[in-house]
Amino acid sequence: MSKIKACLFDLDGVIVDTAVYHYRAWKRLANELGFDFTEEENEKLKGVSRVKSLELILSWAGLEKTQEEQAELATRKNNWYVEMITQMTPDEILPGVREFMEEARAAGLKTALGSASKNSGLILERTGLAALFDAVVDGNSVTASKPDPEVFLRGAEALAVAPYECVVFEDAVAGVQAGKAAGMKVVGIGTEEVLHEADLVVKGLSHLRVEQLFDL
Ligand code: BG6
Ligand code: MG
Repeated sequence: MSKIKACLFDLDGVIVDTAVYHYRAWKRLANELGFDFTEEENEKLKGVSRVKSLELILSWAGLEKTQEEQAELATRKNNWYVEMITQMTPDEILPGVREFMEEARAAGLKTALGSASKNSGLILERTGLAALFDAVVDGNSVTASKPDPEVFLRGAEALAVAPYECVVFEDAVAGVQAGKAAGMKVVGIGTEEVLHEADLVVKGLSHLRVEQLFDL
């Protein structure tokens, strides 16, 4: 009998591809402030909280802003981001995600979301995925950012399972590290080159069968 009892999913880049919306909103903010923001820079913000992302963007541009100004800028970016994700549909669920989650639940595994986003509720609602999660732990309820394991430890707690009984699904290096630091198995979604700290790497959930989890 395998010890795996639960799956903990990151949101952005694992369930849905929202990176493009984050990119457009950060770029618009950067442009309003008089500098540009590239897709390469956007890559570095995967898994990074909103506040920390803004700090990085401002540091790359060599700009200093007060805490108050930073709060206003983060809100401005988020309003544009929310405008875009409000238009999301179930078509934007990444390939194989719904099928994988249904298969996992049918196999008796519990499921939770473990995300840095404060917008996860809206995204799950817009994509029609909310009912497939037994628990949601996101940026509204955690204090420490990935690679800190807090978000995944809280997920295990919410599902009443032990960390070693969980598999984490992550597309960001910091997220893979968070899962390992939590004492969990980690499936990386992306390339082996980037996510080599994961126990297994697949291109997407359409390339994985639930039974493979029991061999991790
Ligand atoms: C992560 C994304 O999932 O959530 C980051 O990978 C994003 O790019 C972070 O900054 C916070 O998201 P939000 O929706 O709270 O701004
Ligand atoms: Mg992610």
